[in-house]
Amino acid sequence: MIRSGVPLVLGVESSCDETGFGLVSEGVLLGQGLASSAAQHADFGGVVPEIAARAHLDAAVPTLHLALEDAGVELADITHVAVTSGPGLATAVHVGLAAAKAVAWSLDKPLYGVHHLAGHAAADTLEHGPLPERSIVLIVSGGHTSILAVGDLVRDPIEHLGDTLDDAAGEAFDKVARLLGLGYPGGPAISRAAAGGDPAAFRFPRAMLRPGDAPFVFSFSGLKTAVARTVERIERAGEQVPVADIAASFEQAVVDVLVTKALRAVRERNLGTLVIVGGVAANARLRAVAQERCDADGIELRIPPPALCTDNGAMIAAVGDLLVRSGADPSGLRIAADPSAVLHGAQLPLPR
Ligand code: KG4
Ligand code: ZN
Repeated sequence: MIRSGVPLVLGVESSCDETGFGLVSEGVLLGQGLASSAAQHADFGGVVPEIAARAHLDAAVPTLHLALEDAGVELADITHVAVTSGPGLATAVHVGLAAAKAVAWSLDKPLYGVHHLAGHAAADTLEHGPLPERSIVLIVSGGHTSILAVGDLVRDPIEHLGDTLDDAAGEAFDKVARLLGLGYPGGPAISRAAAGGDPAAFRFPRAMLRPGDAPFVFSFSGLKTAVARTVERIERAGEQVPVADIAASFEQAVVDVLVTKALRAVRERNLGTLVIVGGVAANARLRAVAQERCDADGIELRIPPPALCTDNGAMIAAVGDLLVRSGADPSGLRIAADPSAVLHGAQLPLPR
């Protein structure tokens, strides 16, 4: 039931291979619809932009209907529309943007452009309520790996403490899965294989952890190469590749570096909360190790439930809802896609 005078924000997500629509009202997720073209990319070992864009086109209207049904509301109940306008695959972002503009224009409602990565952070508020005054946010997705110092997600500038120099954490999972023959998307595949493996079987490198290395900067391409060399060496020796042990040891190496650096940021900034978001935050080992180390250090850990870690429309609606309640001006119907938008603020384009 929608009360009159209360905002009902539709969020639209299409930056990669998930078509998502979510409906959020005053911090509460009312319902969502989600479609994925992941299976169509499996043969290619990664997302093919043209296939993703076509799949978004096919899925947009039915998935919007699913979201409305799930929330028990009508299209006409929507008061505001928020959409990922970047970063992401340009052809894919355009489809969601066109859908969001069509809804906003036909209902004559305001439209807000949202930075996809701010959406990942906002996803956590749907489960755990408003973020604390200040926190460290570790974003680990297929395209990004960043440690951020965050205040009010939609009012304050977002400070980057460090990013990855090369591959993103999710990209490393996807590439290692490919070389172990585990398919796409690699994260869940590695995770499943790793469940039966020994995380200490192989000692893979933990990059950028030596004294003198940039404290919050990541690099995962060396790790991927180390796994490739190990697989080659074992195959050359004519032995069976121990996929479960390699997957578990790789996962452990990624998780060690992510958690060590994120906790270092929390301590250096004298903060009490670490928030971990993005597709890789669905990883069971990351969740368990982060929880253990945060408990040991007396730090509050917030991670959204796995279904809200990977891309979805609810997280974009969550940002829209925060923008609306903070009194932000809409971005307007002329908003363009910004495929390589850097995260300085939650709204796109950044208000002057
Ligand atoms: O955030 P996301 O859904 O999309 C982007 O914004 O990129 O993240 C997708 C990434 C992929 O690289 C995928 O392999 C990874 O998240 N991922 C996982 C898991 N589930 C998804 N990585 C590790 N463990 C998982 N369970
Ligand atoms: Zn994402």
